[in-house]
Amino acid sequence: MSARAFAATSDVTLRAAEPRDAPACRDLDRRCFPPEVAYSLAGFQVLCAESAVRIIAENEGKVVGMIFAEADAEQGAGLIVTVDVDPAHRRRGVGTQLMDEAEKQLQALGMRQVLLHFYTPHGEALRLYRGRGYVLKGKLSSYYGPGRDALLMVKTLG
Ligand SMILES: CC(C)(COP(=O)(O)OP(=O)(O)OC[C@H]1O[C@@H](n2cnc3c(N)ncnc32)[C@H](O)[C@@H]1OP(=O)(O)O)[C@@H](O)C(=O)NCCC(=O)NCCS
Repeated sequence: MSARAFAATSDVTLRAAEPRDAPACRDLDRRCFPPEVAYSLAGFQVLCAESAVRIIAENEGKVVGMIFAEADAEQGAGLIVTVDVDPAHRRRGVGTQLMDEAEKQLQALGMRQVLLHFYTPHGEALRLYRGRGYVLKGKLSSYYGPGRDALLMVKTLG
């Protein structure tokens, strides 16, 4: 995928993530999740290079948001791996733009459903997902480590 911009607002520009973005993505993830939950640099090197959907939100040349998703062609289901917005840039619609673009790209890849794991201590994300039509599919106890559950949520596209 090229580094073309997908969309822009006065605040952020969306573009495809590239391998060079991995350190900034790792740093952003550390600002959004506790260290034991955040992805490693090696994890972001793979995500930035290989994810079916890999989108960066930039503000003045800085990575302030990102979303990564996988696409399972056999199941026709996409899986959002992570969506992060820098705390200083929240509640301005950046998360919504990232989710809009990721769902659009997954649909273009032939996905009929999108799955995600909701990190239960982050109630704000649940409001974002519910508002976009994601519904609860199950609970994964201690998915993020002892006492940190995940809720599996799903949305039908189209
Ligand atoms: C969840 C997250 C991505 C949302 O990003 P954002 O750019 O602030 O989201 P938006 O501005 O597009 O918000 C869209 C809607 O989500 C809901 N929402 C988002 N943050 C909220 C908060 N702190 N409190 C209440 N509702 C919230 C609101 O309904 C909001 O619409 P509104 O602002 O018109 O009321 C961001 O808070 C984040 O990165 N959190 C930490 C990482 C995380 O938990 N990611 C999800 C993994 S499970």
